[in-house]
Amino acid sequence: MAAAGSGATSGHENWSSRSAFILAAVGSAVGLGNMWRFPAEAGENGGGAFVLFYIFCVLLIGLPVLLSEVLIGRHGQASAPDSVRKVAEDSNASKSWSLIGSLGVFAAFLILSFYCVVGGWVVYYIGVFLGDLFQTGLTGGAFEGRAAEDIESLLPGLFGNGSLMVGLNLAFLAATIFFVARGVSSGIEWVAVYLMPMFFLLFLGITIYGAFTGNFGEAVGYLFTFDFSKLTGEVMLAAVGQAFFSLSLGVAGMITYGSYASRNTNLGETSGIIAGADTAVALLAGLAIFPIVFAAGLSASAGPGLMFQSLPIAFQAMPFGSLIGLAFFIMVFFAALTSSVSLLEAPTAFVKDRFGMSRAMATLLVGAGAAVLGVLSSLSFNDMADFRPLGFIPLFAEANFFDALDGVTAKLFMPIGAIMTCIFVGWVADAKLIDDENGLDGVLHQTWRALVRYVCPIILAVILFFGIFG
Ligand code: TRP
Repeated sequence: MAAAGSGATSGHENWSSRSAFILAAVGSAVGLGNMWRFPAEAGENGGGAFVLFYIFCVLLIGLPVLLSEVLIGRHGQASAPDSVRKVAEDSNASKSWSLIGSLGVFAAFLILSFYCVVGGWVVYYIGVFLGDLFQTGLTGGAFEGRAAEDIESLLPGLFGNGSLMVGLNLAFLAATIFFVARGVSSGIEWVAVYLMPMFFLLFLGITIYGAFTGNFGEAVGYLFTFDFSKLTGEVMLAAVGQAFFSLSLGVAGMITYGSYASRNTNLGETSGIIAGADTAVALLAGLAIFPIVFAAGLSASAGPGLMFQSLPIAFQAMPFGSLIGLAFFIMVFFAALTSSVSLLEAPTAFVKDRFGMSRAMATLLVGAGAAVLGVLSSLSFNDMADFRPLGFIPLFAEANFFDALDGVTAKLFMPIGAIMTCIFVGWVADAKLIDDENGLDGVLHQTWRALVRYVCPIILAVILFFGIFG
């Protein structure tokens, strides 16, 4: 094995090259968070003000935490908890810090379970547009002759069908399991190296299509006109949460991916590329979706329904509507799969290392757990809609199973994990060890260190507080 990483001696797997690492990490970051959640959040939170603050969050909080996470992984060359433990040991700090990794791995497992539920919806829309392409033909709009309410009701129709929801959820999870079971270089890397370029191609095509056939001017105005009166506390909270989710932070995913990086990868630079690519895709997703939605005269603030309901309606009036709709959802599927793969990898690497299991066994075990939770999440839209798993906690009293998992991970696990990571890297870990890993020097290094020590933990603590009590 040519990899220079110290992991080569311990049997820990490695990326086959730096670009494979970048593609995989960008694949992890770019997902439903960019294509579905970002435009939905931007639309619900007033457009420009949200977008500007989002970029600010990525730079000031997301990027420093991202570098902290990959750095821990690269030094540890092991699963997330063991990587944190290694850094702690080498810094003469308490081994209990490995809790960061354990909590993260657990949170990644929880996120995986409901992420695959939404992945299932994407598969459903691929089916819908494929069927429509055969029915209405290539050139016209999608869903010829069908009423807008009809198209809009596809999503609630799916939600009402428990067995279909479960089936699609498990299909998406099965695809994820398949690639993770094949390993880092032949499975996870394969998805990244083949699917991410296809994603970018389709994405570019659809953005250009939107720019020419849609209302591009209105979309640009909407996303980039910064109206500061709209920047409320709520909007800021939404922006930080979105930045974290989009960059796959706070839950050990990036620690795990960093652990496969070789010693000669410059982590500072690589983190910048990952964060930059993720943010570019989120902004471009807005520039792909809003022109199409505006051209159809639909509202920007449809929230979660924006991608799954407004967009299909908009495709009705567009040339090549069925084909573009199909391409769009295939593209989202690729992005989602490269993300779910990273969510499964974090807990799998842990189970594999800790219990000395084969990768295949570990993947199946974690996957089976995610299947059980996924079924409960899928059914929380229909048969189990009245089940309130965390009814005893006021914060989550009204949440069904799906919302409870989403809420617990976004409001508790992610901020807590990130705060602990910042304190650990900024204050506890040996400064020399950190300096050797981060690939930064001069002013950049000083800035990063100040952000990790002071700015990030304080802002994150505020977020945690308002997330719970606000
Ligand atoms: N970032 C991904 C997205 O935008 C989702 C994701 C993948 C994720 N891995 C993660 C989110 C780890 C949180 C933590 O869709």
